[in-house]
Amino acid sequence: MYILSFESSCDETACAVCEMDESTRKIKSNIIASSVDIQALYGGVVPEIASRAHIEAISKITYEALKKAELSIKDIGAIAVTNGPGLIGALLVGVNFAKSLAFANNIPLVPVDHIKGHVASNYLTYPDLKPPFLALVVSGGHTSFFDVKSYTSLTEIASTRDDAIGECFDKVGRVMGLPYPGGAAMDKLATQGDENSILFPSPAISSQTLDFSFSGLKTAVINYINTKKQKNEELERENIAASVTKTIVCAVRSKIFDALKLTGYDKVVLAGGVSANSHLRKGIKEECEKCGASFFAPELSLCGDNAAMIGAQGYYEFLNGSRADEALNAYPS
Ligand code: KG4
Ligand code: ZN
Repeated sequence: MYILSFESSCDETACAVCEMDESTRKIKSNIIASSVDIQALYGGVVPEIASRAHIEAISKITYEALKKAELSIKDIGAIAVTNGPGLIGALLVGVNFAKSLAFANNIPLVPVDHIKGHVASNYLTYPDLKPPFLALVVSGGHTSFFDVKSYTSLTEIASTRDDAIGECFDKVGRVMGLPYPGGAAMDKLATQGDENSILFPSPAISSQTLDFSFSGLKTAVINYINTKKQKNEELERENIAASVTKTIVCAVRSKIFDALKLTGYDKVVLAGGVSANSHLRKGIKEECEKCGASFFAPELSLCGDNAAMIGAQGYYEFLNGSRADEALNAYPS
């Protein structure tokens, strides 16, 4: 069946068409319109600007997605839409648009959780991947381990107690003068630096828990940078990026080791915008090899927010019987 899907939880307005059935997981089109360039002027996402940008883009990208897929709305078997978590005004644009389209054309409407969608980007990357497995979702707003028991049943078993991993990369990037969002630029800089040059506190707070805490690391790095600036000392940005990245990768590796032991799983699935980080992917892959587990991460084009992942998850929610009516609402968290 063909699924038309929408994603508008943050600053990406996205629409996709996926062809999904028991043995097919295919992206027919995956269109993304981003307001990141405007948001960059403010150093972060301004919710009102994001909502307005969604309103301007959503009709246009829906036409584009159907046209690229060489389909019409009559060919669509279900419409999937992210209804949370995210910015409430931004979510409501996608939800209301999807609702109108579904009811005007008599097409079943399926609500999709954004985090589940990120995990599902792996189903599109690996056509044979099936639950159960351990998932780690790392994004601008989330850092959580999930016990993925089935396509539709995910239980959070640990998370960050404060900042998300992406927030840590972005804030450090901002203090170093990198363009917003700083994650991708930090990734590149880290490749050029000495990862052992500066010692920062680990976000792996205690061996008693799988939880993380990134706010201490973020503050320590920002203090380090501000002290350097006050002393008029040269900021070795490459070394800072490399050392922060190493601190994060080591912490994640140790928690992956513990989480595999706890759950008994032999598959680790990484997802979310920060899953594009080359050092994190390499480190987790090595840890999985050490533990005898298989490692999965989305292809780079599916790491960030997109609608194809919502379509993939929407398919499994549809099979599970999930349907929304005109009362469907969005939830921010
Ligand atoms: O999943 P996503 O697109 O949006 C949320 O749901 O939050 O994730 C965005 C986050 C941002 O913090 C961005 O800086 C980060 O993903 N990111 C990266 C990389 N590419 C994107 N962080 C580290 N390394 C990267 N290569
Ligand atoms: Zn996301």
